[in-house]
Amino acid sequence: MPQWGKMEPVSPSRSAEIDAAVAVLRRGGLVAFPTETVYGLGADATNAAALRHLYDVKGRPRSHPVIVHLASAAGLHAWAARVPDDARRLADACWPGPLTLVLPRSSIVPDEVTGGGESVGLRVPDQPLARELLRAFDGGIAAPSANRFGRVSPTTAAAVRDDLGADVDLILDGGPCRIGVESTIVDCTGDELTILRPGGVTAGRLREVLGHDVPHATAPRTRAPGTLPSHYAPRALVELVDRDELAARAAAHAGDGRRVGVLCLDPAAKGDAVVDAVLDSPRDVDDFARVLYARLREADARQLDVLLVVPPAPNGVGEAVVDRLQRAAAARRESRVS
Ligand code: TXA
Ligand code: MG
Repeated sequence: MPQWGKMEPVSPSRSAEIDAAVAVLRRGGLVAFPTETVYGLGADATNAAALRHLYDVKGRPRSHPVIVHLASAAGLHAWAARVPDDARRLADACWPGPLTLVLPRSSIVPDEVTGGGESVGLRVPDQPLARELLRAFDGGIAAPSANRFGRVSPTTAAAVRDDLGADVDLILDGGPCRIGVESTIVDCTGDELTILRPGGVTAGRLREVLGHDVPHATAPRTRAPGTLPSHYAPRALVELVDRDELAARAAAHAGDGRRVGVLCLDPAAKGDAVVDAVLDSPRDVDDFARVLYARLREADARQLDVLLVVPPAPNGVGEAVVDRLQRAAAARRESRVS
């Protein structure tokens, strides 16, 4: 398969780790592993008991479906009952990569994966350790992001350990994730493809591959609970601001006795604002995606009450960054009123 040509060699110690991870998965345990987007918390996608354990550890309602990760697009036919032409085109062009295709489920897909629905989310990740694990396991690995339900997704092994601790049997450390925000989810179950979640594959790339725009789902035909407003939130209040209002918002929060931090692409945007912490500015929008979750965790580690964020323009991967920032902001608005 041409995809395998890109694989980096895995060292002997790495291959012992992969063997250990495969053994954990085969006995129904949980393995956290790196992908190019965020770390996943993996379980054997055909083992119902392992999947129930996965939901318990994540603290996630059983009705929320999980993505099945595959070693290559050759697995599509085992896991999907039908693959429309446009879905096939996307798989050929974007896999391995940060794209999840929602397709009609095949008979091997357990209810625990689909949350009881009729579709399954499939993805071939583009990360050497993930690919080696999938190849060695020789089956589907169901994996949500390796964080407790509603919390910030992990982009390092340390962040997985902090969040899930001893509840994970094994963590494969592949260093920081290259993309930093989750995969783009495209629903391919209806007459028209729709985007359920913006992510690592940009809307422009989808257009380039298909020759037409893919609209965003309005009333999701298929449930994608990761699209709840209450996701991806740190403890600190996240507030999105224009650069002109930054100083005034900082002063208002400080006046109420809050510890305030700032995150923006352009370090000059801070202007005269008086704040407790200025988080390191990302270099560009791709870097913003890469460091976003680490910065949200940092806001908590520095015990900030409020993080004022000047969002990037919603172009390219900036769309996913803005989407996650809006959810982080919405989550805390909800919890403050409840
Ligand atoms: O980049 C990613 O997608 C990461 C890495 C680990 O692959 N995974 C991830 O998984 O973000 P999770 O579970 O945190 O978010 C997956 C989202 C959820 O919102 C889930 O509801 C949605 O995908 N999803 C999964 N299967 C689906 C399906 N059959 N129909 C609709 N939405 C689905
Ligand atoms: Mg998640």
